[in-house]
Amino acid sequence: MNLPHPELSIGAQLVPDWHAPYFGRERLPVRIFADEHQAARAVADRIAQRIRENTAADKNTVLGLATGHTPVGVYDRLIQLHREGLDLSRVVTFNLDEYWPMPSDALQSYHRWMHENLFDHVNIPAENIHIPAGDVPRDQLERHCQTYEDAIRAVGGIDLQILGIGKTGHIGFNEPGSPPESRTRLVTLDPVTRRDAASDFFGEENVPRHAITMGLATILEAREICLLAFGEHKSAIVRRSVEEPPSAAIAQYQ
Ligand code: GLP
Repeated sequence: MNLPHPELSIGAQLVPDWHAPYFGRERLPVRIFADEHQAARAVADRIAQRIRENTAADKNTVLGLATGHTPVGVYDRLIQLHREGLDLSRVVTFNLDEYWPMPSDALQSYHRWMHENLFDHVNIPAENIHIPAGDVPRDQLERHCQTYEDAIRAVGGIDLQILGIGKTGHIGFNEPGSPPESRTRLVTLDPVTRRDAASDFFGEENVPRHAITMGLATILEAREICLLAFGEHKSAIVRRSVEEPPSAAIAQYQ
């Protein structure tokens, strides 16, 4: 996919049930929006529709959530919809990842970020919120990751997963080379990813070398996935991800 304009935004939806226009060269269904705001709105409205349908049927909605710049507009719109009456009391959430080690109240913690950008503004019950714990001791990591997987399974799996994409092609923190069968685990961050995060940590040397992330298998079991990417700096990796044959560097699934 070539981006004719730097501000063009992309929402690539991996499960094609939106009857979205399909542009041929891509191996995955792709929707291109006029701007980031419209893409975020479309995804948030889709989430809201799922929540309303499930709540009316007396069912929970299980969302897989991402951090970073990309999903902010989606969360802003969900907060607005909540203020207009959307009930999120039957929503259960699982976040993709967290730096390790990372105290949950640290400035760069994804726990803190999620509360500031979404959870503090909607009525998702605290006990329904799951985020990998960055402060878990090393000798308890394996058990923590297994418990995370078990919790996802216990609620029947993820209904809708939101994804961004890193410049290396990572989803969550699954860097190139992550096996398709990978599960929630401790990973080592790519130097490019650490460099990209440097400004959040006041210097690359302060960026943790590790993170806990849901695995590719965990993510791809979601019943619906919306991968969003905005801006010129993401165009090369989006083109590779949606046009090139699947590889260990850039996996594709439909
Ligand atoms: C981090 C997160 C990813 C996210 C990526 C892109 O590495 N772990 O889940 O997709 O950053 O971030 P941004 O949306 O800010 O471009």
